Amino acid sequence: MATYDLVVIGTGPGGYVCAVRAAQLGMKVAVVEKNATLGGTCLNVGCMPSKALLHASEMFEEVGHSFAKMGVSVSAPKLDLPAMMNFKQQGIDGNVKGVEFLMKKNKVDVLKGTGKVLGTGKVEVSADGKSQVVETKNIVIATGSDIARLKGIEIDEKRIVSSTGALSLDKVPGKLLIVGAGVIGLELGSVWHRLGAEVVVVEFLDRILPGMDGEIAKQFQRILEKQGFAFKLGAKVTGVDTSGKTLKATVEPAAGGAAETIEADVVLVCIGRVPYTEALGLKEAGVALDPRGRVQIDPHFATSLKGVYAIGDVVAGPMLAHKAEDEGVAVAEIIAGQAGHVNYDVIPGVVYTTPEVSSVGKTEEELKQAGTAYTVGKFPFTANGRSKVNQTTDGFVKILADAKTDRVLGVHIIGREAGEMIHEACVLMEFGGSAEDLARTCHAHPTRSEAVKEAALAVGKRAIHM
Ligand code: FAD
Ligand code: NAI
Repeated sequence: MATYDLVVIGTGPGGYVCAVRAAQLGMKVAVVEKNATLGGTCLNVGCMPSKALLHASEMFEEVGHSFAKMGVSVSAPKLDLPAMMNFKQQGIDGNVKGVEFLMKKNKVDVLKGTGKVLGTGKVEVSADGKSQVVETKNIVIATGSDIARLKGIEIDEKRIVSSTGALSLDKVPGKLLIVGAGVIGLELGSVWHRLGAEVVVVEFLDRILPGMDGEIAKQFQRILEKQGFAFKLGAKVTGVDTSGKTLKATVEPAAGGAAETIEADVVLVCIGRVPYTEALGLKEAGVALDPRGRVQIDPHFATSLKGVYAIGDVVAGPMLAHKAEDEGVAVAEIIAGQAGHVNYDVIPGVVYTTPEVSSVGKTEEELKQAGTAYTVGKFPFTANGRSKVNQTTDGFVKILADAKTDRVLGVHIIGREAGEMIHEACVLMEFGGSAEDLARTCHAHPTRSEAVKEAALAVGKRAIHM
């Protein structure tokens, strides 16, 4: 029986990063993974494949729509979907191999199979009808999340798909009906819309991207509508008739009322994700779950069972890869006796569409609700020189600062490369910086990031280019 300092169950961004950090700190570590490949949702069916398709489809769209006006004439692009899927697969393979390499480099044992917590210090690993018990001083549960399902609607991953099926369609659907205007719906909707699908999004709430700043979400919706997205807000899909050649979805107003039928070739269900705890044996082992089925942890990631910790999508908090990674580092450091910590007030969120949407800290709605007095500084990309010459002027930067102290409380950006631009705000906020700190920081010209500086100047009502 092998004995470890730490066994991590799950090798998504939470699990494998935790394993690497623990090995760096001198622990003898093993990871347990039930999938054929390492890397979890993120690398196999999440962040990475979706970003590969977003990149490829954006290039396809650019060639068709933006090249001619820049004086680059090319014939109309032709879609080779199998080649695009191959491009995606190469990206997945490259990243998965990268994690395998990291495990070897850090001398982390990879135990293939399904992990089960037998109790403090004992993990059972089962594969192909055989099982072994591994002894370990500590256990980290990093088993991630699974798709949320809609009652009465069966996902076959061919015509009614989750994000997993939507990443591997074998042809562009004529019409794609998306249930849920969250991150997955808007990202994967963008992919297929760029490749030629008609996209209709049905959303239960009266807005898209709940949780993001309302003003940003409104402008984003307008931009997506201009691109050709159709939204049906305040509505829900209650059933899908699969008997005919086209699918017939029943759509009802969320508040009740007459139903209508929307026909589609493919329906994508993306209404959130749920923690994945199947086969872990948590109840028998005495690991408590919270009322939403997530593994319950204390502020140090410890579960109700001694020596067992949990991180990532399987615990509370935003279901984001970088949140899982940071928790992986923190829990490894805590186990090693250090002061591991995650600052949940500064976790950026990015929607990788065109334009991108990025956000960190509080939204205007949250500040209003908390009764915090705040100042707003905004700067549009139409007034940013670099955006003007590139003719990519959609969007704006919005900075929310404390009215008394000028400390930056939230930054929200809609625009090209917004996902890269958000990080100077993250660093600033980690150091408790003010809008004036940002406004007085020299920014290279000409860059789109100058719009961030200008928005910070606008907090003090002294933007230069507006
Ligand atoms: P996961 O990545 O879910 O990994 C859990 C692993 O545990 C899996 O490999 C699973 O097989 C394994 N496992 C489960 N149970 C057992 C068991 N009993 N024994 C052994 N192994 C087990 N987040 C972002 O930050 N940015 C993005 O751009 C982004 N894009 C996304 C796009 C899509 C389409 C989806 C679905 C998600 C996306 N996410 C994104 C979310 C991101 O993928 C998750 O937040 C992240 O993967 C969570 O990491 P994790 O380590 O907690 O779990
Ligand atoms: P989500 O929580 O972002 O959005 C789900 C949407 O579906 C919400 O707007 C919700 O109001 C709506 N909804 C719920 N039930 C509904 C119903 N019955 N009918 C109509 N609408 C309904 O979840 P999503 O998009 O499935 O993504 C899952 C997770 O994956 C998210 O937590 C997200 O953080 C993560 N993710 C992150 C990405 C990124 O960081 N770029 C990309 C993709 C996913």
